[in-house]
Amino acid sequence: MILTDEQNNILHGSQGPLLQKYMQWMVRWGTAMNAERLVPVHNVHVSGVSAPGHMVIGMPDGVMKGMKEQIWDTTSFKVKAPTYTHVARITLDYADERGLEPDQQQFQHEIIERARKAGIVLTWSCAPYLVGVLPGKGQICAWTESSAVIYANSILGARTTRNGQESATAAAALGVVPEFGVLLDKNRVGEILISVETDINNSLDFGLAGYFAGELAGLKIPVFEGLPSIPVEAGKQISAALATSGGVTMFHAIGVTPEASSFDQAFQGGTPKGKYVFDGQAKKEVLNKLNTIKDGMIDHVMIGCPHASLDEIRTVADLLDGRKVDNNIRLEVWTPRAIRRTAEDLGYLQVIEEAGGKVLSDSCPAISRVSQGKAMATHSCKQAHYSQQLLGNKVALGTIEQCVNSAIEGRWLS
Ligand code: F3S
Repeated sequence: MILTDEQNNILHGSQGPLLQKYMQWMVRWGTAMNAERLVPVHNVHVSGVSAPGHMVIGMPDGVMKGMKEQIWDTTSFKVKAPTYTHVARITLDYADERGLEPDQQQFQHEIIERARKAGIVLTWSCAPYLVGVLPGKGQICAWTESSAVIYANSILGARTTRNGQESATAAAALGVVPEFGVLLDKNRVGEILISVETDINNSLDFGLAGYFAGELAGLKIPVFEGLPSIPVEAGKQISAALATSGGVTMFHAIGVTPEASSFDQAFQGGTPKGKYVFDGQAKKEVLNKLNTIKDGMIDHVMIGCPHASLDEIRTVADLLDGRKVDNNIRLEVWTPRAIRRTAEDLGYLQVIEEAGGKVLSDSCPAISRVSQGKAMATHSCKQAHYSQQLLGNKVALGTIEQCVNSAIEGRWLS
């Protein structure tokens, strides 16, 4: 890789051992990915600023803690680009309730203090674009959450590869990333075509289309033809579903997303390597596949994966207004803490709590791993998938309206 004089000096220790270590990681990563240079990063979404244990399946706490100490050196640094946190392992205001051991809690607080001193903004969300982190078209970022990576690349037209906790932390400290993958025009070309030949009526339908396409795309870039315009909530669902069933980094929707005003622009003048149809039958098959509750019995309703927008919280509050969640159901809405506060100001939170629901922030069931062995209803293909895979739950998947009405009824209303 070609480095500037300053980058070379950092690599040789001119700004201390921590930045030297991060620069070594960057150079090794960039070399492995055939990057020619490091380029400035506009903003960073960093993960790993949360308690050790359970975030990596099967990894003992000690190993996880060691990894974190490797990343979060006690030496301080200041971020070189605006940096925002992904979710935490726990709902930070309720650490005891969430079952963290005292040493884990202490370690959690140390890490948070280091992050705060580094100038990292503690957004605690998988959907940074909901709380004002909105890079413009062409701006380079280093984001960690896979669904947010797709949202940034596809819907905002920004540019980010899929980052891990090490690369994002190094990007925050150095203000640069290796230039490879979707950071380059030539790697943003559509590869397979998904022809949408069914009604897309709500965010759930966008999620089902995304789940269908992700399974076919794997690591390729799918191009949708026939999708309507994408509201933010639908953008969350299609991005999260694509990242769940596939390893997608971005998609195009012809006539909708910023780099796909036409078929030719989406494929950069080329032709698709595969063509598939998402029709009513395909939609039903994805829904059936993710729906594993057949007897209507549910005990947990989860809204907000990726984290709920203010409008989704308003929808839940409107549906619950003057009604009660069934006593045997736990209804949770997960959202960034900034949106939770706004929902409180607007009275939505009180309506939901009076009905017996909870509005929680900072984490989610799949990450905190506290809702195992449940019969969970959700509006999110991603939560439906991971709730089964990671938590061993049974799942009912439907619209937000179906989920909330089912919580009131005490059984799944299919
Ligand atoms: Fe966010 Fe958790 Fe879903 S981190 S995307 S709410 S699995």
